[in-house]
Amino acid sequence: MKKIIIAIDGPAGAGKSTVAQIVAQRLQYVYIDTGAMYRCIAWKVLQDGLTADDEAAIVDIARNISIKLMYIDGKTQVFVDKCDVTNAIRNPEVSRMVPEVAQFAVVREAMVALQRQMAEQGGVVMDGRDIGTHVLPNAEVKIFLTASIEERAQRRWRELTDKGFSVSLEELTSEIADRDKKDCEREISPLIQATDAILMDTTALSIEQAVSEILAICKER
Ligand code: DC
Repeated sequence: MKKIIIAIDGPAGAGKSTVAQIVAQRLQYVYIDTGAMYRCIAWKVLQDGLTADDEAAIVDIARNISIKLMYIDGKTQVFVDKCDVTNAIRNPEVSRMVPEVAQFAVVREAMVALQRQMAEQGGVVMDGRDIGTHVLPNAEVKIFLTASIEERAQRRWRELTDKGFSVSLEELTSEIADRDKKDCEREISPLIQATDAILMDTTALSIEQAVSEILAICKER
């Protein structure tokens, strides 16, 4: 089968990364988590003691940061300047900072350039918010994955609790609503469904069902 490009977009907690990772595994494709890339910048901003107002310093970070996504033992591991930040970038503090840094044009340009480079050879499953609309508009398969806000908050709560973070479901629900708003209302590359993307609501779907549906769509292409 020809190695195609699969773009999976959608809001936080819709199951994108879990589903995209399994689809990539089954097809022996490369999985690229673009949210992790924006998280790396937010992590570095916090690490350097900066705030979202320090635009010049944030732009400098985006232009010079070295981000590596490596697939080790069946999991994506994330490195910033050789430092393993796989768990640190999931910290709630980073989650709050990331929409702030992701709204800067220069930050997005730098990340999009990297993402396009990573997808050059095809055989890629890339997930994010603007992949089908902006980063890879020629992707052969575009999926817009969504789920109810209650279900998405529950999923994030389970994920964070499993990782040892202590968070309240209520706080998480309001944080996700806030992040949705910022992602959708952002001036540059907001979160919207591409006109040629297939909408998939995962509220009542198991991971395996979502994966199977996407694999069936890929087979048709
Ligand atoms: O998918 P995630 O929750 O790890 O994404 C983290 C943040 O990064 C989220 O607030 C939206 C932003 N993001 C983005 O602006 N563009 C992307 N392609 C991916 C993520």
